[in-house]
Amino acid sequence: MTPRPRPLYVGSPDTEDVLVAELRRRGDAVVVAPGFVQSALRADPVFARCVLPRPIRVQADSAAELAAALLALEPAASFAPERIHVFAPELPRSGSADKGAHPLARDAESLANTLRKKAEGRRAKGKAGPPTAHTLRVALVGPRTALASVDLDAGGAAPDALVAWPGPFAGGRAVAVEHARDAPSSAHRKLHEAFAWLGTGPAEGDVAVDLGAAPGGWTRVLRDAGARVVAVDRGALDEGLQRDPQVTWLRRDALDVDLAALQPTWVVCDVIWAPARTLEVVARAVAVDSVKAIVATLKLVRPVDFDALDDAVGLATGSVGFAGRVKHLVANKLEVTLLMRRG
Ligand SMILES: C[S@@+](CC[C@H](N)C(=O)[O-])C[C@H]1O[C@@H](n2cnc3c(N)ncnc32)[C@H](O)[C@@H]1O
Repeated sequence: MTPRPRPLYVGSPDTEDVLVAELRRRGDAVVVAPGFVQSALRADPVFARCVLPRPIRVQADSAAELAAALLALEPAASFAPERIHVFAPELPRSGSADKGAHPLARDAESLANTLRKKAEGRRAKGKAGPPTAHTLRVALVGPRTALASVDLDAGGAAPDALVAWPGPFAGGRAVAVEHARDAPSSAHRKLHEAFAWLGTGPAEGDVAVDLGAAPGGWTRVLRDAGARVVAVDRGALDEGLQRDPQVTWLRRDALDVDLAALQPTWVVCDVIWAPARTLEVVARAVAVDSVKAIVATLKLVRPVDFDALDDAVGLATGSVGFAGRVKHLVANKLEVTLLMRRG
């Protein structure tokens, strides 16, 4: 009997301990490389952004041999996967600076190009079989060493990025938004990443309530997308945003805001307080008919309160009329992002 494959979960090296603890609540977990944790569980852990469902270690003497070996993972000589995701591991964070590129990032890019060219070549020569929904996921963990998985799944083709798992983004890294120098804060990267996971973002005609808005990174993103923004914070909003006719600053406690009265289409929350409070606000937003999407960060401390995370996942996935997910995003430090979309 062939043993059941043990999925390989990929998260940030900075929160690898939390991913291990999350998996160990229900099963086993073994770290195989920084940020890569293997388990017999088939799950959608909050602290994993990507999974290789049936991982195989592939080693070769040259880049060309590695590419050939990866395309030979499926027995058919005509194998030409429709989607090819190749990624290098994530670097650990150093201070508050942006994570730089991993030394293997260039090799990963060049391997992806080689694999895509080979797959296209097979198709052009009519060697490839009929198109399939295969995704070849490759984590390059050494110059000629890969952890790879070939899977027939929704992958990147799924129109609904929110529910696609193992994940529509190479390595689970949705967007590479650098810190914009003139942005009121660096928090805007979290919101861009959240839009990518949701597969949608606000547009003209939307009304967004931004709770815990100061100094205004998220408010700026929402207003630049065309939404009218109600920015709520006890602290001061960026002066330019205070003068902006598209933005209204409410200087008050986020819990005192009557969401139903504001009729928002988007509710976002980045307040630093206990996760239970964020979930209270999210539950209120779910009950407002005009709301079509919610993004909320839950601020955590070590050791992580997994019961609170269970509550968050329950709310995100169990609210009638919404699809939802809770994920530790690349731009999240020790916090996670709740993502919900109506429909
Ligand atoms: C992480 S910052 C938000 C950053 C913001 N999203 C941005 O992009 O610039 C958290 C904010 O929550 C605000 N805050 C904390 N407790 C609050 C409360 N009870 N009601 C409203 N705002 C609160 C703080 O004043 C702070 O500005």
